[in-house]
Amino acid sequence: MHERLIEKAENEHRLDEVELALLLSSSAAEEPLAAAADRVRKKHVGDGVHLRGLIEFSNICRRSCLYCGLRRENEKIERFRLPPGEIVRLARNAKGHGYRTVVLQGGEDGFWSAAALAPVLREIRAMGLVITLSIGERSEEEYRAFKEAGASRFLLRIETTDRALYERLDPHMSWEARRMCLASLRRLGYEVGTGSLVGLPGQSVESLARDILFFQEIDADMVGIGPFIPNGDTPLGEEAAGDIHLTRRMVSLLRLLLPEANIPATTAMETLASGARVLALRSGANVVMPNVTEGDFRRRYALYPGKAHVRDTPEQCRADLTAQLSQIGRFVAEDAGFRRQGSMNT
Ligand code: 5AD
Repeated sequence: MHERLIEKAENEHRLDEVELALLLSSSAAEEPLAAAADRVRKKHVGDGVHLRGLIEFSNICRRSCLYCGLRRENEKIERFRLPPGEIVRLARNAKGHGYRTVVLQGGEDGFWSAAALAPVLREIRAMGLVITLSIGERSEEEYRAFKEAGASRFLLRIETTDRALYERLDPHMSWEARRMCLASLRRLGYEVGTGSLVGLPGQSVESLARDILFFQEIDADMVGIGPFIPNGDTPLGEEAAGDIHLTRRMVSLLRLLLPEANIPATTAMETLASGARVLALRSGANVVMPNVTEGDFRRRYALYPGKAHVRDTPEQCRADLTAQLSQIGRFVAEDAGFRRQGSMNT
């Protein structure tokens, strides 16, 4: 039964909700799913692993997502906002470490208007780095301004496609508005990354199956998923964490259904289970986003507790990763890792 479904997914990249839910629920399917996903990964995106240097530049956020440590109500977290020159410096270091892309990620911090962020983007773009932004919901005009200033990709997780669950966990936010943001980004010509949390309280496997179908439907260029990790400084602090095996099956199914997508092995996976990053890379993933933020800011960007590698330096992260990749027969990809060939000649 599983064998037939996995074979169909591997050859046709198509499964329906019931089939996806069945595979997601089955521990017995985990290894064969990972093996099939690894073959599809090799065939469609190759052995190169794309590294994106992650710069966490502000942990100030106007939102109240119940799972997230950056939520505005959390008074335990020490807030920070890196000055423009510091962001540029970290980007320059990232380039020095050999990264071709930087991801600028932050909370929904109103300080960073288009006018404030554009000069930073221009300066980083002028270094020849490809810029991915991950700063939440903005108007289409702002997304356009960021694009004009040099951003070419944007990450905005849908978090869950279960609207009721989304609106319960992300108070004062609208699922429809988030979907519209993804549509705006697509219209503007960004490469669009999205994704969801695995194991949110009240989330079903059917809902995760629909997440995968949603990513397929919007033709996501990148899909990042990770297990929910309870944060004691949030209202969901006492809930159970997401299951690492279920998350791994999600990664494999994502690869099978979106063969060309960029799929990261996420920090949340590594945080929950040491070694999970490498396992994800062998189960369908082809991207890693090493943190290039320095010193204490790494710790203070606390979405969830126990974040992997907070004590490492950017240099250590990079060196460890290169060693790990060569152990599994993979290598650091030299190109900037656009999903769409020819979408940008850098
Ligand atoms: N556990 C795991 N991931 C989380 N995120 C936020 N809070 C948590 C948590 N407690 C994820 C969200 C967000 C991304 C930047 O971090 O999916 O989009």
